[in-house]
Amino acid sequence: MRILVEPGGTVEGEASVPGDKSIAHRWLILSATARGTSVLMGLPAALDVGSTALCLAALVGDSARPRLEAWGSLLEHQSGGAGFTVDGRVGPTEGRAELVVEGEGRDRLHVPGRPLDCGNSGTTMRLLIGVLAASPFPCALTGDESLRARPMERVAAPLREMGASVRTDHGHPPVEIHGGPLRGIRHELSVPTAQAKGAILLAGLAADGWTTVVEPARTRDHTERALRRLGAPVRLGDGERTVSVSRFQHDGFEAEVPGDVSSTAFLVGAATLTGGELIVGGVGLNPTRTHFLSVLDRMGVVTESRVTGEELGEPVGELLVAPVAALRGTEVTARELPLVIDEVPVLAALAAHAEGETRFAGGAELRAKESDRLGGVAEMVRDLGGRARVEDEDLVVEGGGLAGGRASARRDHRLAMAATVAALGARAASEIDGMEWSEVSFPGFLTALRALGARVGAV
Ligand code: S3P
Repeated sequence: MRILVEPGGTVEGEASVPGDKSIAHRWLILSATARGTSVLMGLPAALDVGSTALCLAALVGDSARPRLEAWGSLLEHQSGGAGFTVDGRVGPTEGRAELVVEGEGRDRLHVPGRPLDCGNSGTTMRLLIGVLAASPFPCALTGDESLRARPMERVAAPLREMGASVRTDHGHPPVEIHGGPLRGIRHELSVPTAQAKGAILLAGLAADGWTTVVEPARTRDHTERALRRLGAPVRLGDGERTVSVSRFQHDGFEAEVPGDVSSTAFLVGAATLTGGELIVGGVGLNPTRTHFLSVLDRMGVVTESRVTGEELGEPVGELLVAPVAALRGTEVTARELPLVIDEVPVLAALAAHAEGETRFAGGAELRAKESDRLGGVAEMVRDLGGRARVEDEDLVVEGGGLAGGRASARRDHRLAMAATVAALGARAASEIDGMEWSEVSFPGFLTALRALGARVGAV
């Protein structure tokens, strides 16, 4: 789907965003592996989360399968292309949907009758591999073209060491796994990745002894937080870069998924580039996800976040953004990068409008996302009439504003949304191709933007 983005509107007011994709994957998996009933509210109608629901439907018993299947396939059907419109409904039930999952426990998962299709979702595949490492049956996992090109050995290798049989196709999906009895290991991740950490910790719940993951840099800690809240033995050490778990079977739980702060970042970007004041409520404010606010602060964007509650170990609250006078470039260091890994596209969109250059250092991992975001973001900025380049592993965005132009999502949800945000601040109208990809993480993105005052619409 191609859209026209016209500058001139002001993105302002009060907004809420769909539930957090990262958290939703984990809580869905934890509900399906729990012993007892779980009630999940606020699951986002995001395609990726639908992929997790459908994979889990193939693994659970009859009492849990129908609801997971209905939920996942409704999403697939809604957003698979034909049913999608700019103003259309964005999910099975808008806003705070509720899903009840009757779990039978981790050791009662069923042999799936087919390979599990993880769609576009790396988190689905990697976390499920962790769960399946302890299941004594063979299972294959595959995904779309983008996912089949993404690295899986970072998960497969440690799980093999724990005792599972895991085969990849030269490091990529499809992945064939045959789980069994596991032993705890101490594993030092070669790249900071919360997905691999999460997979190893989930496997560690079924392993003999302690399983320890050491991260080279801190990454999002949703798995640790949820497990702790569910009563699992979780130990943190070394400035929270080392996390250990040991054997544990959790019970069912009830929780509401907080709004996705990474989705919020796109609205913050849109408000900033159009001079608007914005409040987003009910949003997850986990400090391992909000580092982009510090980067924004250095760029001259004033925000205020206020924690008002907690859900399954996750701080939830509101985020306020003040109208911005002038944006300035900054340097995002290699050390910081894992903490803003999903926000690089939108930060780059802002950087293109800043005074002076912005450098994102050490961005090699951006090449292994839904698309090559290192090259893709630079190209997006250039396509919209700005200047950006890749220098070894660094992304360098020159400021000075954008003329406007025509950019493509490159089949990547975050590039679709970042290009839209960047175009809102351009000097002339722009066209963005592939907008339907935003449904992967932020269902209703365009509807939300328009409701806040942006001038975006189908071409
Ligand atoms: C995620 C972790 C990040 C992030 C992705 C979601 C997660 O990936 O980019 O969108 O839910 O654990 P890596 O941890 O592999 O960098």
